[in-house]
Amino acid sequence: MLRGRHQRYDKLYLYSLNRKHPALHEISDEDFIGCWEEDDLAILFFHRPKRELVEEVARKFGLTLEDQAEVTYDEWGEGRKVGTLQVGPLTLRPLWQEGDGLRFDPGVVFGSGNHPTTRLCLSWIYRLWEEFGPFERAADLGCGAGLLSLLLTALGAEVLAVDFNPLCVALTEKNLRLNGLHHKATVVQEDVRKVLPLQAELVVANLFKGILLDLFGLPSFWTARHYLISGFSPSMEEELKAALWPKVELKGREEKDGWVIWHLENKMLKP
Ligand SMILES: C[S@@+](CC[C@H](N)C(=O)[O-])C[C@H]1O[C@@H](n2cnc3c(N)ncnc32)[C@H](O)[C@@H]1O
Repeated sequence: MLRGRHQRYDKLYLYSLNRKHPALHEISDEDFIGCWEEDDLAILFFHRPKRELVEEVARKFGLTLEDQAEVTYDEWGEGRKVGTLQVGPLTLRPLWQEGDGLRFDPGVVFGSGNHPTTRLCLSWIYRLWEEFGPFERAADLGCGAGLLSLLLTALGAEVLAVDFNPLCVALTEKNLRLNGLHHKATVVQEDVRKVLPLQAELVVANLFKGILLDLFGLPSFWTARHYLISGFSPSMEEELKAALWPKVELKGREEKDGWVIWHLENKMLKP
């Protein structure tokens, strides 16, 4: 995350350690961006080279530094630029851009606004809001940087945001707080399969195919009226469709740069 003198991202210095450790989230250094956990690995991100510091931390907690890399922020985002997002009348701006609207730190996790699925989710949340809203309660499953939660709370919903990655949870909390919207959301570090059933009229799930298939197979997932499901490509659609609960209807679909979003409606909960 951006802090201290750092007001934007430029170069990223990554250090990969062989194991996770809670202390890796608490490193006190102005150049520390955060600790990303993936499977059993922990990857530390810094704005500047920090090999000595990382070696010291690794020694202290019995960890091994396995790899290191230096990349630009654009490379980390696979060349997709982070910039201002317009959703209906609402503007979402990265911290370094001046102007009105919602502000966010895009961080180094998924969901900084530069991915087609994030953009699809943002625009469909607004679309559903206009057609079926307002929604009192919504869920953002796999919240990443928290932009969907930011939009949902700005529109007026009480939001449950869930991600198993602690860096996503911290960044979502930061982004909500930056806009004075943290009191509208509960941000939870948990596996999305363990937070069911949800108390929400709208569930947004921008996840990976395997997790979507797991959720689709759980009757406790299907308690909301509206679902926005994304994170998959057209080639995965048949398999996902076959796993849908028979009582939901595919009401809308859009494709953007090889990624798909669905709007599903629960026929049992139609007024
Ligand atoms: C594709 S990103 C979506 C981020 C954000 N919602 C957006 O639309 O930009 C998926 C997110 O889900 C999280 N995630 C993946 N599987 C998960 C699981 N089983 N439980 C909780 N979070 C999960 C990842 O850490 C990641 O932040």
